[in-house]
Amino acid sequence: MLQKTVSFDYQEYENPEELAPSDLTLLQLAKAALQSSHAPYSGFNVGAAIQMENGQVITGSNQENMAFPSSLCAERVACFAAAAAYPGIPFSAIAITARAAAFEVTQPTTPCGGCRQALMEYERLFNRKIRIIMMGDTGKVLVVNGIESLLPLSFHEEGIIKY
Ligand code: THU
Repeated sequence: MLQKTVSFDYQEYENPEELAPSDLTLLQLAKAALQSSHAPYSGFNVGAAIQMENGQVITGSNQENMAFPSSLCAERVACFAAAAAYPGIPFSAIAITARAAAFEVTQPTTPCGGCRQALMEYERLFNRKIRIIMMGDTGKVLVVNGIESLLPLSFHEEGIIKY
């Protein structure tokens, strides 16, 4: 048996003004996307903005449904809209943010497991790392370069048994 360790690098910014201008703009677009969030059940609004390599930005927000499992997270709303609108165009970055009615979101909003898997799909499709910029309503900003940092030992097609 070998004991192994996975580690990853991430950047922590005290406030968004320290970000590179293009990352700050993307984060601001994610914050603007909060206004389209439909989250009457959780009261937790999430916004996402994807920078595409053709210069387009596609935004998304969480869309909840009274049949709860039919809801979709902001990140996947943005990913699927981007891939459907511009097939074949890689994503270079995604900014994610959140706001809640009942409390201040002071911690960075990191994507859920399902959204990490979706981002992995587009990285692998385009063989291009996606930079992920994460912030709450206030507080620090975290940045990782590539979804592997957030999804080590991920499932991928080489893991599928071929019949
Ligand atoms: N949510 C997202 O939109 N993205 C995430 O990565 C985590 C959670 C949404 C789902 C639900 O509408 C609300 O946040 C509360 O979980």
